[in-house]
Amino acid sequence: MDEPYIIKFNTHADDRGKLVALEEGQELPFRLQRVYYMRGLSEDKPRGYHAHRNLLQLVICLSGSCNFLLDNGRQTFDFHLNSPDEGLYIGNYMWREMHQLSRDCILLILASEKYSPSDYIDDYDKFIEEIKTHA
Ligand code: TYD
Repeated sequence: MDEPYIIKFNTHADDRGKLVALEEGQELPFRLQRVYYMRGLSEDKPRGYHAHRNLLQLVICLSGSCNFLLDNGRQTFDFHLNSPDEGLYIGNYMWREMHQLSRDCILLILASEKYSPSDYIDDYDKFIEEIKTHA
């Protein structure tokens, strides 16, 4: 239930372009088990609307922009992502919604666990109930 935060990456830039490297224990605050990406998104089609019981994630907006609304049941956090030079860390038991997804938005997500439907809490009231017992 860590608070979300932005990790600024070291961008290796020269006249050939830019390169960002992420390593476990350095920029990546967990052991990497899964990578996925999202594209073909739409401003009028928000996504997310769930929390995870165990999953930790680092979200990188490789192209375009979007807003993340995060909620731990006590506090909400708003992040505007529009740069591949930083990542948004999202801990477990954090309700997330993705809004204002630009058409050119590409989100790369680095995840600490393999895909597991049972790790999802997709009902907000259930999420609020569960964090009372989890805390
Ligand atoms: P979903 O969790 O609905 O996306 P959102 O982040 O917007 O809530 O995932 C969309 C579909 O992709 C759903 O059928 C589950 C599938 N999926 C996988 O098969 N593996 C994965 O690692 C993820 C994240 C989703």
